[in-house]
Amino acid sequence: MSMEPDRKLDGASLQRLIALVKKHTGITMEERKRELLSSRIRPRMKELNLSTPDMDYLDTHKHEIQKFVNVITTNETIFFRTPIIWEYFSQEFLKSWQKKNTDQTLRIWSSASSTGEESASIGMMCEEFKRACPTFKYRIYASDIDTDVLEGARKGMYKERSINDIRARMPELYTRYFKNHNTAEPQLCDAILSNMEFFVHNLHSRGAHLTFFDIVFCRNVLIYFNDQDQELVLRNMYASLKPDGVLIIGESESLARLKTSFEYTKPLIYKRAA
Ligand SMILES: C[S@@+](CC[C@H](N)C(=O)[O-])C[C@H]1O[C@@H](n2cnc3c(N)ncnc32)[C@H](O)[C@@H]1O
Repeated sequence: MSMEPDRKLDGASLQRLIALVKKHTGITMEERKRELLSSRIRPRMKELNLSTPDMDYLDTHKHEIQKFVNVITTNETIFFRTPIIWEYFSQEFLKSWQKKNTDQTLRIWSSASSTGEESASIGMMCEEFKRACPTFKYRIYASDIDTDVLEGARKGMYKERSINDIRARMPELYTRYFKNHNTAEPQLCDAILSNMEFFVHNLHSRGAHLTFFDIVFCRNVLIYFNDQDQELVLRNMYASLKPDGVLIIGESESLARLKTSFEYTKPLIYKRAA
């Protein structure tokens, strides 16, 4: 491809760029995203002093691939996004799981966890449940394809906008589960962080070690994949779940038109079919 940093991508370059995005992230981009794509790669091109970047650049500079993935992905998220699923998780799922699994540790996978607000929300709900049921044990596995977003999440530190939002909407949870909550650098409490593991993972690959999860959150990421790839990701999810495991998807996603082995339970909630 050749493109000067502030010029528009021509048709052929755009096609090659779309193919690169697909190859390295599994994301299917449409041509109408031309502006978005150019604006995301432009800063890195400038840093590399590439006025006419070569599409083969990633082949010869492998260490640039992860940087490319990090700028291409959309990481929008907030704490407790989509209230109905949090109601389900705290009021139904945790209670019924605990009844059936008194001595076990609940295994949860936040599979496109972005900057960590989702996994932190899961942690806060688990700690709330623990207040009523002190023997309850849980472990949260949080992954994303983007290495940059995992850095803050690992430390339990979040963007200012997210912190302002939870502080306003859920002040009790915020003060209970964040240390330094009166400072400019609040941090998720150790009780939750010590129950979390973070790792890089592309949902398009199987991940043989990712098994026996009781529940998988796969929210607001399927939407970036074409139907065939969504089915592939959902087959991977199926293999990662326990036989009666639960899958939670995002508010603008649906499995209705896809061929999967999940059974609809209620909006956004599915069960792994036997
Ligand atoms: C819009 S965020 C959703 C965050 C959170 N699950 C939520 O619902 O608020 C989508 C995340 O999916 C990640 N992602 C995109 N493609 C992926 C892939 N192939 N494998 C794993 N994560 C991916 C992005 O890096 C991004 O952080």
